[in-house]
Amino acid sequence: MAPSVQPVLVEVHLDEGELARSLQEDARRGLSTTPKALPPKWFYDERGSRLFERITHLPEYYPTRREREILEARAGELASGVRPDTLIELGSGFSSKTRLLLDAFAGDLRRFVPFDVSEPTLRQASEAIAREHPGLRVHAVVGDFQHHVGLLPRGGRRLIAFLGSTVGNLTPDERAKLLADLAGGMEPDDALLLGTDLVKDVGRLEAAYNDRAGVTAEFNLNVLRVLNRELDADFGLERFSHRALWVPEREWIEMRLRAEVSQEVRLPAVGLTVAFEEGEELRTEMSAKFRREDVEAELAAAGLEPRAWWTDRASDFALSLAGRA
Ligand code: SAH
Ligand code: TRP
Repeated sequence: MAPSVQPVLVEVHLDEGELARSLQEDARRGLSTTPKALPPKWFYDERGSRLFERITHLPEYYPTRREREILEARAGELASGVRPDTLIELGSGFSSKTRLLLDAFAGDLRRFVPFDVSEPTLRQASEAIAREHPGLRVHAVVGDFQHHVGLLPRGGRRLIAFLGSTVGNLTPDERAKLLADLAGGMEPDDALLLGTDLVKDVGRLEAAYNDRAGVTAEFNLNVLRVLNRELDADFGLERFSHRALWVPEREWIEMRLRAEVSQEVRLPAVGLTVAFEEGEELRTEMSAKFRREDVEAELAAAGLEPRAWWTDRASDFALSLAGRA
């Protein structure tokens, strides 16, 4: 008998109340310090996740295409080398590239665990994947990978994929903590597959975050829409403009929103009135770019042993495979 479509299990570690409280805290802290900054996870409401999907198709945004090229070349090797029965994906979004792994692992794979902070996106992706892969159990987890990786399902041979260079959107300290949390929960047969964008020509890097069609600008401004909706704030989107620039000392791209005029913004839900000077910038994201030695040193510091380093033909992007040291 042909395997039947399995019902999707959704495990929620972050309910709406907790999300609201953590957004309030991040807004209160991030907007009352200098320089102002917000953590990146708040971009990804439903609209934000859809805008990000559009970014991945832009001509300037090479990372998704390069990572897909590597996955296409290496999926077979991963399937025979790791032979996972569980595929976990952190920051899964719509899991678009992951389809390549699901197809390649089809023989041994029993369970797929997409993990994301954005519940509507996660539910949509999970339902679609369950339909495409009859017999596969899809066990979705709504959570924050900076707090909840200890709660990932255990057992079996697990491959943990963390793609899209999302690891580069964390600060170095946050990255060290996440990698150590992951390593702490890994069994000897588990493996980590980590996607990292690489240092390259500044012009290409800046263009990838400042596309001509303005989709990245929309995406960046989306965080203000989220604050307006969730915290009753009154950000005027037309009073802010998108900026993306390379910071050579840190080797990361910084995304900022620049106040075009001096202004006051009210956030009644957190009891804040925030003053912006003309030209003042709010940092909304950074996207670190890596070199092989950085990635291997960060893995080693977390107790992980690098086992493979794969790049695309142009050496724009890398996938690392690592196991517990
Ligand atoms: N993996 C996909 C999507 C990357 S976009 C790709 O490679 O194209 C980053 C994803 O990470 C979004 O879906 C966002 O909701 C999720 N995300 C961001 N911060 C997160 C956090 N702290 N915990 C869990 N998911 C997070
Ligand atoms: N992980 C992606 C990256 O760093 C996220 C991303 C792409 C992004 N474009 C963006 C985040 C624009 C904020 C703004 O490349």
